[in-house]
Amino acid sequence: MVKHWQFLRSFLRSPKTMGSVMPSSRYLVSALLSGINWQKTDVIVELGAGTGAVTESIVKQHSADTLFICFEFDQELHQRLVKRFPETEMAYDAFKLLASLKKHNKTQSNYIVSSLPFANFSKTDQQVLLEQIKEALAADGQLILYQYSKQLEPLLAKHFQKLDRRYVWQNIPPAYVYHCSN
Ligand SMILES: C[S@@+](CC[C@H](N)C(=O)[O-])C[C@H]1O[C@@H](n2cnc3c(N)ncnc32)[C@H](O)[C@@H]1O
Repeated sequence: MVKHWQFLRSFLRSPKTMGSVMPSSRYLVSALLSGINWQKTDVIVELGAGTGAVTESIVKQHSADTLFICFEFDQELHQRLVKRFPETEMAYDAFKLLASLKKHNKTQSNYIVSSLPFANFSKTDQQVLLEQIKEALAADGQLILYQYSKQLEPLLAKHFQKLDRRYVWQNIPPAYVYHCSN
């Protein structure tokens, strides 16, 4: 309940940046993370961590030697994440993805898991961020994201050869989960 309240406060402050009124449900978290090969993950990135529903599951599952970098733009949510997940590398702006990897002496990530409200970004920002994500992914890496409509699908298809889409109807609101790879 506290999590929902935190989320709602941030939503009321900045609805476009939040992109949703509810944190991710366990059904959504499971659909996002179920295919990850944790043993073979050197680096994993989360974009738009919000209240940390996805973050918590990544923290529980990743290996001790995996680098986990988590981005959250909202100041209040960011500070809470820093306190709750002290072992995780916290960053702010997802648009600084490549620079953050470089800061940790990494150029690529095996998985990039995004809760970002892409549909609220301008077309240019969608393009810029997807290009950066593609550059930041290992050759066999995966971008995993969810959206509340299929609006982003043509742009995802332009950047990735394989798109696997599932519908998570148990989430509020129901969401499309994409696993994108080349
Ligand atoms: C749909 S919410 C995240 C939901 C999250 N999975 C949860 O369960 O709480 C999207 C999040 O993306 C964050 N966000 C939006 N633009 C961002 C950016 N450029 N960089 C980092 N985070 C961003 C928002 O502040 C918001 O917390």
